[in-house]
This record gives sequence, structure tokens and C-alpha cells, in this order.
Amino acid sequence: MTTVELRKLELRDLNEVEEIERVSYPTPWSRSMFASELAKPSSLCLGAYDAATGRLVGYLVISRYVDAWHVMNVAVRPDRRRQGIASMLLNRLFDLTSGRSRRGYTLEVRVSNTGAIKLYEQLGFKPRGVRRGYYTDNREDALIMWKDPVQEPAAR
Ligand SMILES: CC(C)(COP(=O)(O)OP(=O)(O)OC[C@H]1O[C@@H](n2cnc3c(N)ncnc32)[C@H](O)[C@@H]1OP(=O)(O)O)[C@@H](O)C(=O)NCCC(=O)NCCS
Repeated sequence: MTTVELRKLELRDLNEVEEIERVSYPTPWSRSMFASELAKPSSLCLGAYDAATGRLVGYLVISRYVDAWHVMNVAVRPDRRRQGIASMLLNRLFDLTSGRSRRGYTLEVRVSNTGAIKLYEQLGFKPRGVRRGYYTDNREDALIMWKDPVQEPAAR
């Protein structure tokens, strides 16, 4: 396994984002949806890159709302899964947003996506309810998850 670096996602990454997106979701986001998130000041888009090759291996998109950060999208290249990359991206998100506000974190996840649910639970998210028939492709329910605000780390 090679080292992974995290930095802001850029427009030039969108070809690789599309590639990962298409193999990750039954209803992938379009390129223009990513472009619009990249342009929004209230969104934060992080990419994970293979340090040796510069190849994009995963990404995270979140949006700031009044009371919470909403995790909109997180995906990792299939051949790089179970290497801690999504956890790295989410932990960087918590670092970047800790202490600045009283905002917690929320997301929706397909009830059948047990791997993702496990990932979120390990990072402190808790189930908070269900949105019935939330996903339009198969009318699957969404589990709503919530994580309380992360406090600023104690001074070292
Ligand atoms: C969900 C996803 C982002 C996880 O990315 P990842 O980089 O593989 O996740 P991590 O390696 O950080 O996983 C951390 C832990 O979460 C749990 N986990 C993650 N994926 C899992 C899976 N498929 N099955 C079971 N547990 C899983 C494990 O406990 C894992 O730790 P371990 O590998 O030491 O057992 C990735 O599988 C993906 O891109 N899936 C398709 C898109 C998707 O479903 N996104 C979430 C939408 S809400």
C-alpha cells in the first residue's frame, strides 16, 4: 500500500472523480454536480491522492448548513478500499471543522450499505431515523446518521 495525501479537490480532478463515481453508485452524480460543489463557498471537497503517482483514489464532499455539516458524497476507488482512505478523509474533515462552531455532522446512507454504516459508526455517527423511500432508483430507505460537534483539540 502506498502513501496517500489529502488536499482540496480541483476541477482538473473531475475525470478521475467521474470514473470512481460511476463504479461506486447505482445513481452517480454528474460532472456538473461536482463542479457546482467545487464552486460553492459553503462546500468543502477533499481528494485523496496516491503520493507516488498522483492518482486520485477517493474523495469527500460536504456542505455547511446552519446547524450541521452534511456529508454529501464519499467514495474510494474499488482497488483501494479497506485501506483507511475514507476514514482519513472523514477525520480530516473533523480536524478542519472542529471547534469553529457548534455544528454537528449528518448524512444519509442506504440501509443496505452495511459497510458504509459500519465506517460511520466507527467514526462516532449514530443512527437518528429513517427516510422512507429516499432513493428514487429503487425506493430504498435512507438511514439518517448524526455525529455531535467535534471540540477543538486541547492545547498541546
Ligand atoms: C464506503 C466506502 C467509502 C468506504 O471506504 P474505505 O476507504 O474502504 O473505508 P475504510 O478503509 O476507511 O474503512 C474503515 C472501516 O469501516 C468498515 N468498512 C468499510 N467498508 C466496509 C465494507 N465494505 N464492509 C464491512 N466493513 C466496512 C470497516 O470496519 C473498516 O475497517 P477495517 O477495514 O479495518 O475492517 C467505500 O466502500 C465506497 O466508496 N463505497 C461506494 C460508495 C459508497 O457507498 N459511499 C458511501 C455512501 S453513503
